[in-house]
Formats: sequence, C-alpha cells, structure tokens
Amino acid sequence: MTILVTGGAGYIGSHTCVELLCAGHGVVVVDNFCNSSEESVKRVERITGKRVKLYAGDIRDGKLLDKIFAENKIDSVIHFAGLKAVGESCAKPIEYYDNNLAGTLVLLDAMRRGGCKSIVFSSSATVYGTPEKLPLDENCAIGGTTNPYGTSKYFQEIMLRDVYASDNEWKVVLLRYFNPVGAHESGLIGEDPKGIPNNLTPYIAKVAIGELKEVGVFGNDYDTPDGTGVRDYIHVVDLAKGHVAAIEKTAKAGVYVYNLGTGIGYSVLDVIHAFEKACGHKLPYSVKPRRPGDIAACYADASKAEKELGWKATLGIEEMCASLWKWQTMNPKGYNK
Ligand code: UD1
Repeated sequence: MTILVTGGAGYIGSHTCVELLCAGHGVVVVDNFCNSSEESVKRVERITGKRVKLYAGDIRDGKLLDKIFAENKIDSVIHFAGLKAVGESCAKPIEYYDNNLAGTLVLLDAMRRGGCKSIVFSSSATVYGTPEKLPLDENCAIGGTTNPYGTSKYFQEIMLRDVYASDNEWKVVLLRYFNPVGAHESGLIGEDPKGIPNNLTPYIAKVAIGELKEVGVFGNDYDTPDGTGVRDYIHVVDLAKGHVAAIEKTAKAGVYVYNLGTGIGYSVLDVIHAFEKACGHKLPYSVKPRRPGDIAACYADASKAEKELGWKATLGIEEMCASLWKWQTMNPKGYNK
C-alpha cells in the first residue's frame, strides 16, 4: 500500500515511517516542519535504505494536498500533523484549533476529492479527561477535556465519526495513545523538543546529560503507591507498529477505536530510577507542587488492540529509557547538531 503520512517528520510520524517502510509499504510525507526537521526524513531513509517521497508544506493548503493525491495513488492516510503541547494550547487556542481542526477538515475534503476514504488518526488518551475507571477501555466516556489541545483531539474524533456517518465507505481508525517515549534502537531518530521539554522523559534525559539541573517531580501526594503521578508509558517503536497493524488489519469500512498502551502504570519516581539504570548515574530531583490539570493515574486496557489487530506492546521501561539515552547521547542537540 502507499500511505500518506501527515506530520511524518515528527517524533511519532518518523518512527511510523520506518515501520511502514520495513513492512514493505510506500510512504509519502507531508510536513510543514513547524515542530520537526527535514533531517529526520533523511534518517528514516538511512535506517531503512528506502526512499520517502517528501512534500514540504501545510495540510491547511488544499491545493498542495490535491497535488499530492494527483501525483500519488494514496491508499490510506495516517494523520499525525497537529500541535501537541498542552500548556501552549491554553495560551494559543486559536492557533491550536486552526492547525488541528481546520487542518483536519482541509485534509478530509482533499481526501474526498482524491477518492481516498481511509484514515488512521493520531488521537490521545487525553480524550478520556479524568478517567472514570482504571484501566481505561475504549468504552469509557470521552470528553471533559481541560485544554484546547485535548479538546481538539476530542473534536477531531467526532468529526471523523460524522464523516463516516455521512458516507459508510470510509474507514476510520482512531488510535488513542497513552504516553509515547523512547527512540529508535539505531539512535538516529527520536524526540527533539524545542526549548525546555514539558514532558517527563525528555526532561529527565536533559538532566542526565547535564543540560538541566534537576528533575522537578510535580507532586508526591497523589493517591498512588509512591504519591507521584502514574502513567502508561509506551515505547514509540511499539506505537509505530500499532499503526502498521491498524493499516493492515482493518479491512472493512467502519469506525474503529483502539487504545495503544502497555496496560502497565509507572510512577514518576519509577521512571527516574529506570533512567538512572540506563544512564549509569544518579539523577538529582526535587518535589515541586502539582502541575495544574494533571491527574493521579492513567493507564490503558490495551486488550482490544491485541484481540482485533494482533498488536501488543513488547518493549518495557528498560528499553524505553535505554533507547532514549542512546538518542540523547548520539544527538545532544537533537537534529541540529
Ligand atoms: C501530556 C498530556 C497528554 C499528551 C502527552 C504527550 C496532560 C494532562 N496530558 O501527558 O495529553 O498526549 O503529554 O505529549 O498534560 N512530570 C513531572 N515532572 C516533569 C514533567 C512531568 O513530575 O518535569 C509528571 C507529570 O506530573 C505526570 C508525568 O510526569 O505525572 C507525565 O507527564 P508528561 O510526560 O508531561 O505527560 P502527561 O501529562 O501524562
């Protein structure tokens, strides 16, 4: 199959391109590089020894999308392109809704014009808001999101369901990611956050390499075994493979929803200690106040994806930390070496 990957130069997009190419699929990428680098696409080609057809541009540019659909026989789209920082989304809701909602609408319209009615969408566990129960399964209520980023993911899921309701030839797969971490085992591609990282593992990696002083642990008075926040961290390579399974295993039209997680929750302190093993030295940390909007615990029931897609996360916290450390040490300045 030939897959159009929007946002294919980004963190999860680049890892997914590797797995698609390794599985024998053709890959076309469109990316505006607002939070990514062309270098990652070159590295994907280096890892796989295969070519990626790259279009530099924005998914809100309908003419560009028409050109892509005219020049390539696209069988399916994996849609990653979007803004993803929770805090920034509260400060810039217009930019977030424009990129994420308007971008998806322009893409869907172009897909319809181009005769492609198959899409895998990069959603998030954030759509569950405050979990009604743990582990979270796909039937748990969604909504109650607390920031424009999360709300945009929720809205996009609804938009995609409405498109299917209007035309039952569409195939829509909504993949709800838990916390993607780690990097490709080659150390050639990984997460390259701009500025000071917001998320836990890239922050820890920068403390480990000496770029940042200490890890701030946001709260140790949660109702969790050690009082710190618990999350379902999933290796980005497992996550990428989940997209290949979604593309290959969902043959019929319909709307399909899958959690992509491991089903295991680790606390902030668990992650710090696992990273200490990976990097071989102790990491300084101190307890800070809770971060507004954070929940105590969030982890998946990932059994539906295993049953229906034959996909299961296989890499553990050791591999997540070891691969992130390899990426960090091989690329201390990210892609801009
Ligand atoms: C966040 C987003 C989620 C998004 C994901 C990946 C929220 C509510 N959710 O998940 O929608 O998909 O990022 O971009 O923001 N922590 C620290 N110190 C730090 C950073 C984090 O203690 O310096 C703690 C947090 O309190 C949390 C855990 O580490 O308990 C994970 O945080 P983070 O990596 O930011 O991910 P989420 O907040 O779970």
